[in-house]
Amino acid sequence: MKYTIACIMAFLVAGGVSAQSKSEVALTTKINRIIRKMMLEEKIGMLHGNALFSSGGVPRLGIPELTCDDGPLGVREEIKRFDWASANWTTDSAMFLPNGSAIAATWNPVMANRYGVVIGEEANARKKMVMLAPAFNICRMPLCGRTYEYYSEDPYLNSQLAVQSVKGIQSQHVAACIKHFAANNQELNRDSVNTIVDERALREIYLPAFKAAVQQGNAYTVMSAYNKVNGYWCSENDFLLNKVLKNEWGFKGVVMSDWAGTHHTVAAANNGLDIEMGSSGPYDRWYFAQPLLAAVKAGQVSEKTIDDKVRRILWLMYHTSMSADHPKGSIATPEHAKAAYDIASESIVLLKNDNHLLPLKTSAIKRIAVIGDNAVRTFALGGYGAGVKAKYEVTALEGIKSRFGKTSGISFAQGYRANYLASKTDEQNRGYDKPDQKLIDEAAALAKASDVVILCIGSNREYESEGHDRKSLELPFGEQELVNAVTAVNPNTIIVMMAGAPYDLNEIKRSNHTVVWSWFNGSEAGNALADVLKGVINPSGKLPFTFPVSLKDSPAAALNTYPGTGATADYKEGVLVGYRWYDTRKIEPQFPFGYGLSYTDFSFSKLSTDKSSYKKDETIHARFRIKNTGSRYGAEVVQLYISDPVCSVLRPEKELKGFEKVFLQPDETKTVELDVKVADLAFYDESKKAWNAEAGEYVLQLGNSSRNISKTVKILVK
Ligand code: BGC
Repeated sequence: MKYTIACIMAFLVAGGVSAQSKSEVALTTKINRIIRKMMLEEKIGMLHGNALFSSGGVPRLGIPELTCDDGPLGVREEIKRFDWASANWTTDSAMFLPNGSAIAATWNPVMANRYGVVIGEEANARKKMVMLAPAFNICRMPLCGRTYEYYSEDPYLNSQLAVQSVKGIQSQHVAACIKHFAANNQELNRDSVNTIVDERALREIYLPAFKAAVQQGNAYTVMSAYNKVNGYWCSENDFLLNKVLKNEWGFKGVVMSDWAGTHHTVAAANNGLDIEMGSSGPYDRWYFAQPLLAAVKAGQVSEKTIDDKVRRILWLMYHTSMSADHPKGSIATPEHAKAAYDIASESIVLLKNDNHLLPLKTSAIKRIAVIGDNAVRTFALGGYGAGVKAKYEVTALEGIKSRFGKTSGISFAQGYRANYLASKTDEQNRGYDKPDQKLIDEAAALAKASDVVILCIGSNREYESEGHDRKSLELPFGEQELVNAVTAVNPNTIIVMMAGAPYDLNEIKRSNHTVVWSWFNGSEAGNALADVLKGVINPSGKLPFTFPVSLKDSPAAALNTYPGTGATADYKEGVLVGYRWYDTRKIEPQFPFGYGLSYTDFSFSKLSTDKSSYKKDETIHARFRIKNTGSRYGAEVVQLYISDPVCSVLRPEKELKGFEKVFLQPDETKTVELDVKVADLAFYDESKKAWNAEAGEYVLQLGNSSRNISKTVKILVK
């Protein structure tokens, strides 16, 4: 019977594959036929922007414009065709989804997929073929202004989330545009910086999520980054675009430049860029417009190269907007709201709960003071970079009122003034870090008269912004003084941080017992936060990056490679990025990668592997038991790291190779199995220009953060 089923399966799979490739062959024939009918000018018209967010079509042949839109936080509002001003539509209010690092903090690929589905459905409702999302550059430098948009410092977590975001978006026949390829890890000097990064670090740290999104997620579009990598602009980087992306990974889709990120005609055309996008006209003067036509006529770029680019665009269109079963889409539906709520709920990280003040026992609380500008602030818009015209956004104060308003009196005090605008100069922003004593006094008076304080601080979308890096990790706006004043008069103070990147919470960690981390958490942020405070949701978020004690502990700062010297940022730390650095160099973090508490407790036991020694083409099946030993339903993220103690090259102390979010009822025990391919234990061997899983002993380490390993087991690779 087993044999018969296996035969049927094999037949179906083979049949499926050949049906698939048959339709691909038919599509290629169809596309080639269209290309033969096109004039060179028409082809070139498809290779550059003809407006801010579209590139040309060929109406004569029924080829539409390729329409795109930002971006990670939700589908951006409609702007005018030729400038960034609002088009003043009334039908473009969208769901504001949690930011990238919030999605990463869920440590749940299912959430990344649901995020993608919402983006895809809303893009369809807005008739956008390409969504400029997800963005998942590695969080190398905690100050990077776009950390909030990105996912993680770890390539494995990054890959798992990137693949599912792409799959979610593309399940709706909308192309994901994964960005920014590659090594775009700082905003400061992003248009000029030459990132020097060795091939091993590229392959092990900066490229894996792109590779996974292309090969496992089948991403249709890639956005080249602004910076240079190893001497060449990313938009004309033969190594990245031709050798690695297109030839090695087999990417069939389109490489689109970041906006105004193209620098030359011939080099970009021959080195792998397919479409030039940008911010302002005249569009026919762009590198990929008249100059490209001239370059083809002069024989500097072959028509074959042009045809390849057109073929890629048509291939993308036939798989998305021009596909037969293209859905109509929908915008800001109750299902989208539910997805936003669920992602936000799973992203919130409980950093400290020493006194078990949380979850709040509502019956005992008569007066709640909600303090802080962030309690009433929205985060859908702000600073430079893509935001969302949110259909609605529940602030923390609104969420707290809706969840606690029936049982407790709720009062608000602003506490601090967020005097900082990304559009202003440093000089104009001067003094933004100063406390406002009057607001602090008012807040302290309210705190004193209340049973519990929910103190909402952190940053905002002006302070963390595209095009800028922060200057330091310090809390802005005089928030520490506010925290001190409030905590001094009311010990029942819960600190709620809302931000997208690491901050200096050393003082708070020392002096405050209850700390919750929320993010720019989307339309449902306030509801999710209030439900966590109330215990309706048991927090299960885990930090997707390390919080260093001090900026100087971080690799880029310690090695003095940020922001770089002259126009060059030399990534001297190599593969020691994030916890790989802190753990290997034995530097104590403020909060470690993967860290986050719960209202319940978990225990791990019986870590074992199916065998003790493996060949290089085998898979390690690790299994262990996890038990919810507390009294509440909750989820733990089990994390499996590996180390290779004896190796011909320096390897990080730990590398994440598997994880799973496990949901358990009180007292429930589950057996969890995590598979790791032996091939995935390899490092990139520069001397061999190949991955190398050296023979010898490896240690599997199981824990719930990079610094809390509770079980280990050794295996041998032959
Ligand atoms: C950003 C991209 C964005 C593009 C279009 C650029 O400045 O780097 O992420 O998609 O603008 O808004």
